[in-house]
Amino acid sequence: MSDVTMRIWRGDPAGGDFEEYALEAQEGEVVLDVVHRIQATQAPDLACRWNCKAGKCGSCSAEINGTPRLMCMTRMDQLPEGPVTVAPMRTFPVVRDLVTDVSFNYEVAKRIPAFEPPARPAEGYRMQQIDVERGQEFRKCIECFMCQNVCHVIRDHEENKPHYAGPRFFIRLAELETHPLDTNDRRELVRQRMGLGLCNITKCCTEVCPEHIKITDNGIIPMKERVVDASYDPVGWLGRKIMRRPKRSPEEAAAGSSS
Ligand code: SF4
Ligand code: F3S
Ligand code: FES
Repeated sequence: MSDVTMRIWRGDPAGGDFEEYALEAQEGEVVLDVVHRIQATQAPDLACRWNCKAGKCGSCSAEINGTPRLMCMTRMDQLPEGPVTVAPMRTFPVVRDLVTDVSFNYEVAKRIPAFEPPARPAEGYRMQQIDVERGQEFRKCIECFMCQNVCHVIRDHEENKPHYAGPRFFIRLAELETHPLDTNDRRELVRQRMGLGLCNITKCCTEVCPEHIKITDNGIIPMKERVVDASYDPVGWLGRKIMRRPKRSPEEAAAGSSS
């Protein structure tokens, strides 16, 4: 068996650096397996977060060779030859080694008004299958926060965090706002206080999503069109809920009214 060299970032909020670990390669391993072997044999104090080892809990996100990936779903034999670097997600504060404090995301989640259905009709709620499937696309999210990690609006600008929800929450907002049974209206929230206008559609978020959610095409772009384009005539998947709301008159649209 050949050897592998892992360059793992070790440190805490005060600072840190990469440390090298050499060990024998084992067939079929993913990066998380190798990190666990290092913990077991060379560095028992190495901190990493994981739960499912099946790509479902979203907790083992890290930057592997500079690209955000799930450690448990990244096979060692699919990485290029040479040392493998593993670093914590840069956008969130380091707790220790590979563990970051992602509580920013939970704070954003708390600010989003919940789903609010109308009073239950006697015959029960009804939804068309197309509406069920649209929401399912967004509900595949495992909250790995890798889309949040790569979004330059907060990755490079810490000062934007108080005003920016980020891609994970833009799709949560899209999911809620396009639900035909939801009665809440979050349009002003996403426009004024959650920074939808700061997204310039770089699509980095969609590229890294392990669930292959079309964050940009199915979530952010329709939300942006809906909010900023006064003449937007809803067709397709955003249509049903918007059509329930009164449309603007041509006078209101010309005046730039936001409703
Ligand atoms: Fe992760 Fe994708 Fe959810 Fe973003 S949308 S948190 S990348 S699963
Ligand atoms: Fe950020 Fe995704 Fe927009 S990476 S800038 S939210 S397209
Ligand atoms: Fe759960 Fe990797 S350990 S997604």
